[in-house]
Amino acid sequence: MSSTATAEPIQRQVRLETPFSDQKPGTSGLRKSSEQFEQPNYLESFVEAIFRTLPGVQGGTLVLGGDGRYGNRRAIDVILRMAAAHGVSKVITTTGGILSTPAASNLIRSRKAIGGIILSASHNPGGPNGDFGVKVNGANGGPTPASFTDAVYECTKTLEQYSIVEAPTIDLDAPSNHGIGAMVVEVIDGVDDFVELMQELFDFESIRDLIRSDFPLAFDAMHAVTGPYATRLFEELLGAPAGSVRNGIPLEDFGKGHPDPNLTYAHDLAELLLEGDDYRFGAACDGDGDRNMILGQRCFVNPSDSLAVLTANATLAPAYADGLSGVARSMPTSAAVDVVAKELGIECFETPTGWKFFGNLLDAGRITLCGEESFGTGSNHVREKDGLWAVLFWLQILAKRRCSVAEIMDEHWKRFGRHYYSRHDYEAVASEAAHGLYDRLEGMLPDLIGQAFAGRQIANADNFSYVDPIDSSVTKGQGLRILLDDGSRVVVRLSGTGTKGATIRIYLESYVPSSGDLAMDPQVALADMISAINQLAEIEQRTGMDRPTVIT
Ligand code: G1P
Ligand code: ZN
Repeated sequence: MSSTATAEPIQRQVRLETPFSDQKPGTSGLRKSSEQFEQPNYLESFVEAIFRTLPGVQGGTLVLGGDGRYGNRRAIDVILRMAAAHGVSKVITTTGGILSTPAASNLIRSRKAIGGIILSASHNPGGPNGDFGVKVNGANGGPTPASFTDAVYECTKTLEQYSIVEAPTIDLDAPSNHGIGAMVVEVIDGVDDFVELMQELFDFESIRDLIRSDFPLAFDAMHAVTGPYATRLFEELLGAPAGSVRNGIPLEDFGKGHPDPNLTYAHDLAELLLEGDDYRFGAACDGDGDRNMILGQRCFVNPSDSLAVLTANATLAPAYADGLSGVARSMPTSAAVDVVAKELGIECFETPTGWKFFGNLLDAGRITLCGEESFGTGSNHVREKDGLWAVLFWLQILAKRRCSVAEIMDEHWKRFGRHYYSRHDYEAVASEAAHGLYDRLEGMLPDLIGQAFAGRQIANADNFSYVDPIDSSVTKGQGLRILLDDGSRVVVRLSGTGTKGATIRIYLESYVPSSGDLAMDPQVALADMISAINQLAEIEQRTGMDRPTVIT
């Protein structure tokens, strides 16, 4: 049903008694507990700062949607009415407010929007006791740079009032067109454009043949945003039997789960693939659909390896048939892709953690694929990592090579050697303890060079800093690196996305050439480095935890 508002809606200026002092966006926008977001005027303050800072708001088109978590619909209502008050000419939003992060990135680009507001706290739990988040993407479809988020934060600190109009809540239940005063609100199906894009990138016919040829697969949407996308793609278009998509209905609290596709939080799926023989392929995505986990029968694909495999096999997908211009990985991601890039004779970049650092390289055409160890992989098709794209890319490779996931991995390591890799997370550590540990280790770095570590020698130790090859901007303090003389390394970082206390991440990596033992359990292969860093950084002593919360 379409309706167009006739009368000019009433504009209101709402005064804030005191500005909020805690609206500093992190790596992925402003992420806080739902409870914090429910404080009167809290969401409005941050949105006002966005509209005052984002270029082109007056007369511009904006994309708006989220991962369906608790608070999604209320935020859409508030943001629509604030957009109208700020002279936005059109907002494109979606049925049910459901819009995955990569699909939002695509819409911003294809509709030439000034940017988008994505309502998500990614893989953090949702619901009244969970988290909520607001993230702004720019006109290129990617996360906004620090200069923008800093300016938004500065604005919130002194904000005295915000503008909003009074208007009835817009019905999001079906595609339709509406108006709030002069502003057009287009409610579209958030799945359509994304599915079309995937059909341009991959050969669906060959994937359909694979799925029809005794290739049972299980996809876990974790009750989050990818459910409707995955059902359309895998069950409706690619012919997987009904039920192949599990937990496919988005729920406001993700069914009380933690929508993070890793071995801990996607445990049911992991068990299905790693301990049973009913499925040949398994995958899961996170809350907002930008992360992916890939599993084969009795085989877990480490995300760093996944990027390397996609790079080595890229030409099997129509979109990349002509080869790749270059690749990039975040610093803590293993160097598995570096080895492939070297053999292919293409550039390979090492960036700080966070997708925004890939944006300049993608926009400049220097890279085609990029990825992070944190289950994020993507390409130049959008400016976000893209979970379902990665799953389809794997299916494309399997469709062309007609072998198992485990065989792909074995052949890959036989050709390029294996980077044994693991990440140990210590979550919800008291902030003071975590910072104490980090600062102490940072202070020790200069004296570590030349010392023994896990039976090897420390060749170098530093805090990673990055000079952007495109705009020469410098980003410092991106993680402590202990580099050993045989190419192994340990990285220690503090998370920028957690909401409870602090999270310490320890990344461990050790390379074995193709002539070495390629079939070890990574925890065994890395055991000496694990105990060496535990001792050196006094992890147990300072956190009170005798093991990590999550091991990947
Ligand atoms: C985490 C991941 C990082 C990713 C970010 C957003 O950030 O480690 O790779 O870009 O989430 O999905 P962190 O909590 O480590 O700062
Ligand atoms: Zn995410």
